[in-house]
Amino acid sequence: MNKSILALGIECSCDDTAIGLVKLSYNSQEKKIQNISGKIISSHIFNQKDLHTEYGGVVPEIAARAHSNNLQICLEKTLAKAKISLEEINVVCVTSGPGLIGGLISGINFAKGISFGLKKNLVGVNHLAGHALTPRLTNDLQFPYLMLLASGGHCQYLAVTNHNTIKRLGTTIDDAPGEAFDKVAKLIGLKVYSGAEVESIAKNGDPNRFVFPLPLIKEDNCNLSFSGLKSAVARSVEELIKKQGGLYKKDQMDICASFQKSIVEILSEKTKKAFKIFQKNFPEAKFSFSISGGVAANLEIRKSQEKISKLHKTNFFAPPMSLCTDNGLMIAYAGGLRYIYGDCDDLNLAPKTRWPLDPENKMTIGFGKKGRKV
Ligand code: KG4
Ligand code: ZN
Repeated sequence: MNKSILALGIECSCDDTAIGLVKLSYNSQEKKIQNISGKIISSHIFNQKDLHTEYGGVVPEIAARAHSNNLQICLEKTLAKAKISLEEINVVCVTSGPGLIGGLISGINFAKGISFGLKKNLVGVNHLAGHALTPRLTNDLQFPYLMLLASGGHCQYLAVTNHNTIKRLGTTIDDAPGEAFDKVAKLIGLKVYSGAEVESIAKNGDPNRFVFPLPLIKEDNCNLSFSGLKSAVARSVEELIKKQGGLYKKDQMDICASFQKSIVEILSEKTKKAFKIFQKNFPEAKFSFSISGGVAANLEIRKSQEKISKLHKTNFFAPPMSLCTDNGLMIAYAGGLRYIYGDCDDLNLAPKTRWPLDPENKMTIGFGKKGRKV
């Protein structure tokens, strides 16, 4: 029998207040569920970047307040775009971790209010699972697949075997690449501390002027490290300021281009290693490769990752840019899948600021001073 459901997704784990509505269609026969497909209905995002810029990074308390101020507005806009009423949805899905505690609490309480008030099912979604499953929302991507999840808080190579089983093959041992992009933007004095800004300035720069380190690339695994690269950029900026009293526009462009080139090289080398590890784990599987997370919105990174996929004669999938950065649609889709399989939460749902996708995977030593986010 063909069925369909409407899933509402709520995302407040960091600095984007986002709501999305997804329709999931599937075939269900004698408890066997097949041919699930997702359709984007509508979404709305309130980006908080402007609220945090003057502090040089996301301020958790400001983020939490902005989430609770904007959730209702985002919900109303999402429903209005779709011309759908809240009564028509089947399940409320909300990011319940990992992330900043204030934001998670805002989102979860909002979701619980809808669930309790309208007697709707509730599903707590792992933010990383949301990113990892996103390519299936827009593409016909079969399990298992290899994924590079690169964002502002995470960088992991994952073997995605089904919506509920995601094995971590490698991870950053310190910072995430998005964090490094944001830090570089700050170091060179850009007004907006974001990777998109660094990418845009890098376009006219000389990628060979600065030679930055490529940590861990010779190691025979797919763990990554970005903190040494970040420090190297900081040292180059300091030296230039000492020598010439400040940075010229040309310096900014060359630093961005050289830094981006290093990130592209690190991710390229590590993806080659991840392919080998994936093949060892799944020797029989014909698999695809996909990227996701905010950093996957970077064109140079997308192009270089696609090239490696081609070298391995593997299909490559990258979600549209708007689905790479945080959004409510990925949470609606990931939560909708769990609902279809009867895996729901209740009003005891609690935030988990740290929530590994692959709990059996051991901790990696050497994570940075802020600690790994999972
Ligand atoms: O996935 P996301 O929206 O949030 C997290 O889960 O962290 O990723 C945000 C990160 C930020 O660090 C942002 O600077 C980075 O993704 N980012 C980019 C680009 N667009 C966003 N990094 C490099 N190039 C871009 N075009
Ligand atoms: Zn994210």
